[in-house]
Amino acid sequence: MSQGPLRVAVAGLGFGAEFLPIYRAHPDAECVAICQRTQAKLDEVGDAHGIAARYTDFDAMLRDDSIDAVHINTPIPAHAEQTLAALEAGKHVACTVPMATSVEDCRRIVETAERVGKVYMMMETVVYSREYLYMKDLLDRGELGRLQFVQASHMQDMEGWPDYWPGLPPMHYATHVVGPCLGMTGAEADSVSCHGSGRIADDLAAIHDAPFAVESAHITLRGSDVVARVHRSLFDTARQYRESIDVYGSKQAVEWPLIEHRPLVKHVAKRPEQEIPEEVECPDFAHLLPEPIQPFTTGGVYDLEGNTHLSFTQGGGHGGSHPHLVHAFVEAVRGHRRAFPDVRQSANWTCVGILAHESAMEGGAPKALPDFTHPA
Ligand SMILES: NC(=O)c1ccc[n+]([C@@H]2O[C@H](COP(=O)([O-])OP(=O)(O)OC[C@H]3O[C@@H](n4cnc5c(N)ncnc54)[C@H](O)[C@@H]3O)[C@@H](O)[C@H]2O)c1
Repeated sequence: MSQGPLRVAVAGLGFGAEFLPIYRAHPDAECVAICQRTQAKLDEVGDAHGIAARYTDFDAMLRDDSIDAVHINTPIPAHAEQTLAALEAGKHVACTVPMATSVEDCRRIVETAERVGKVYMMMETVVYSREYLYMKDLLDRGELGRLQFVQASHMQDMEGWPDYWPGLPPMHYATHVVGPCLGMTGAEADSVSCHGSGRIADDLAAIHDAPFAVESAHITLRGSDVVARVHRSLFDTARQYRESIDVYGSKQAVEWPLIEHRPLVKHVAKRPEQEIPEEVECPDFAHLLPEPIQPFTTGGVYDLEGNTHLSFTQGGGHGGSHPHLVHAFVEAVRGHRRAFPDVRQSANWTCVGILAHESAMEGGAPKALPDFTHPA
């Protein structure tokens, strides 16, 4: 690795473009290359962000020795092979969710990352959202008391999204619910059982032979008596977009609002019934970040002259998580802290979803998480 700032290449410039100004502003990183399929969009993004090295071919980019790390934001079916190729090329890898779509591909990524000795981090947004950070902070400081239960939901109508989405089994994109539950407890999943509910349209169901409108799962944890509950839907189910996590302790609980942009609700035990719930303003955790990237927790972006201004990017939308993800990845590569989630945790979170769908197809049969998803 070069001695100066971490030299990062970003592949996939839809969602991925959100991260370019954050790497550029981070004091210990820079974005040195970008990659996406069409030259016109590549040049448009490269010109807008002042990035000279541009590739339409991912493998050609990997041959660029000046790149230390690759941040992959390409469509889901490409994640596993691109991650493996990047690790084999000696690059550290950050990859958007999910890690892969098969247990076998997760295994290959864990084995390869450990063999080549490079950092792998799955860039799960929810575990760096301000809502998650707030609940985790309350739990870690003992405010919630003993952790009793955690649940999460992610309901989103994906009609009209790109070609790899239609008919996707809901639990194949489950890290936004599994990640926060497991991250909150600090434990890995031991087993999962899941039931499918309802039915999506026949043409959608035929694509992956996955019929269920909603999949809901219980997850048992290693070394913990807490059981997590998660549910997901992608098609043919009426619901405003919602990624949520609820955390229940013996002294306090915090629930995500039912409607977007409403306040969180905190419940405090041993109060008169009417006074148990209170709406709370969720604090921002920008102070955990280097000063130049703090504005990005609220959607702040830097223009080419280095001035900050606000934009309505997904950066603010994903709970302000994007600068936290960038900083966590940079810190992990520099050896200052473990990647969160690291390669085995990423495999554990992703395999919960893959195995949950298998379980649903078998009427709820429990599935054990494979050993390679637990700490070495
Ligand atoms: N909250 C989150 O964590 C979150 C949010 C949005 C998207 N995502 C993930 O980000 C990924 C991309 O989503 P999107 O909505 O931007 O998709 P998109 O289809 O809009 O964009 C995909 C990008 O990848 C590029 N690309 C496709 N195949 C490529 C290849 N073989 N080599 C190099 N570049 C390639 C395309 O040119 C395009 O720039 C998905 O995997 C999605 O799951 C995660």
